[in-house]
Formats: sequence, C-alpha cells, structure tokens
Amino acid sequence: MLNDSIRVFAPASISNVGPGFDIMGFALNEPGDEIILRKRKDRKLFIKKITGTSVELPYQPKLNTATAGIINILKEKNLDYGIDVEIHKKMGIGSGLGSSAASAVGGVFAINELLSLKLTHYELLKYSLVGESIASKAIHADNVAPCLYGGFILVRSYDPIDIVRIEYPKNIFCSIVYPGIVIKTSEARKLLSKMVSLKKAVSQAGNAAGLIAGLMKNDMGLIKRSMVDHIAESKRSKLIPYYDEIRKAAFNAGAMNCNITGSGPSMFAFSTSRHEAEKIAAAMSAVVLGFGHECIRYISGINSKGPKILG
Ligand code: HSE
Repeated sequence: MLNDSIRVFAPASISNVGPGFDIMGFALNEPGDEIILRKRKDRKLFIKKITGTSVELPYQPKLNTATAGIINILKEKNLDYGIDVEIHKKMGIGSGLGSSAASAVGGVFAINELLSLKLTHYELLKYSLVGESIASKAIHADNVAPCLYGGFILVRSYDPIDIVRIEYPKNIFCSIVYPGIVIKTSEARKLLSKMVSLKKAVSQAGNAAGLIAGLMKNDMGLIKRSMVDHIAESKRSKLIPYYDEIRKAAFNAGAMNCNITGSGPSMFAFSTSRHEAEKIAAAMSAVVLGFGHECIRYISGINSKGPKILG
C-alpha cells in the first residue's frame, strides 16, 4: 500500500464458546472496531483520538491495546516511521465481545498493510497478543486469533502457540445480547479455581472434542449437546443477574445453546437461520430490558475473513 493513511475494521469475537475456555473462538460480522493510521513526518507515535466509549482508555501508546503491538513491530523491524492513530470503539469495553482484541488486531493489521510489511498471520498474532495482554493481564488468544484469522479457531497450544482453523456449518447463526454492565476480564479470571477435578476435566475434554467434531461434521445435534462448560461459566454466571432467565428465554425461543461469551456479560446462542436467530435475540433481550438494564443485540453469522481495509 502506497497511501499515507489507512482505515481498517477488526471484528468482535465470541470466545470460550461453551466448553472451549481459553482455546476456542470465532469472529463476528458485527460489531467491529475501526482503527485509522496516518503517517507522520517525524518518528513519533501519537493516539490522536479515541471515540465510542465512556470508559477512559489510555492515550499513552505503550498502555493502549491498539498501539502496544504497533510499537513492538516498529521497534523489532527497525522501522523509522511516525504514526498518528485514531481508535473508534464500536463495542463495549468489558462486554465479552473481544473489544480489546479487536483494537489490538486492528492496530497491527493496519500497520502491516500501511507499510506493506507482509508479516504472516502468525507474526501478527504474536504482536496482537502484546496489546491484548495489557487489557486482560493474562495471555489468552481465543479472541485475538479469530479476530485476526477470521472463522472458527482452536488454540491447540499456547507454548508454542498453535492455531487451528476449524470448518463450520455455513448456516450457523449467532444471537448475541450485550447487557449494559461491565465485567473486567482480569477480575472475572480471578474467580476461577486453579484446579479442576478429574471428572470435570474428562467431561470438558469430551465436550470440547464434541463441539469441534460437530462443527466439522455439520452435526447440529452434537454441537448442541457439547455446549457445556465446567471451568468458567458457573463461577461467572453470578456476575450476570439474569443469567438463568436469559438462558431459559433463549431455549424457549428454540436456541441450540445459550452461553456466556468470554468473561461476559454478553451471552450468545446458536441457531440455524437468521429468522430463528432474530427471534432468539429478541427473547434474550426482553429479559435484560425487563430487569431495567440497557441491552444491545446483534445477529451474526461466523465472519470468515477477519479484519478488512475500509479505506
Ligand atoms: N478466555 C478468556 C476468558 C476470554 O474467559 O477469560 C476473555 O474475553
């Protein structure tokens, strides 16, 4: 790319996906953050503008998820560029929709394109994780990887990091409700037990394998049976005042599952048509509104592409 500026979109993502705590995620078509980079004449990096959030985000580039990865790229590749950055948040911070991952991926994807660096997905993943770890205070790739690669992703291993793209049924739809409460991933991770019993570990492995097999075999019944988590959901459900009610409403409306995405508070449900997904989202959202909370709902297929250039 020979332009002096670039505007990119980086998608939200659903992480954990039932039994896939820290190891599974998929990208959504909407919402998604927008990041704009402009070359400067000097070698400085500034965050010029952050919009779309009432949460105060740092303007110091080293402390911001969108710019930490860019700084590392410029430094490690010995690139003498100065950049002005604009971050336009299009999803809630602490929503469970991979907000920090979208900004982190948006930043590194944008700099790679703007400077025609031709970094591999694997390298971009490494740099995106630098940004993501600032927000969550832990390394987890189940938002960053799907946001960057698109599609449904299995993080098979963290050391070394091993990303596996999983085939999925093309008619799978996702209903998402985002209640207007904030849950910090770093706080929600503190709720988790350090140990899991053998019985739960066996059951979790069975469900995780079942979900992957179900996706690859296009077996909706197997996907439905596998959407059970024994590690995070029971602990974190206490942070969502209407967790049980949302699940009940989703199942009554015909959903295959209803789970927390990431550390919440957003919850998601699968179905097999847009029409059904809309009905399910409306039922889930009615519960949240009934409790007097704000609620944004999204309907999305699985986004196979990941980030994209907008201009
Ligand atoms: N796997 C991470 C967690 C995702 O559940 O803590 C956070 O969005």
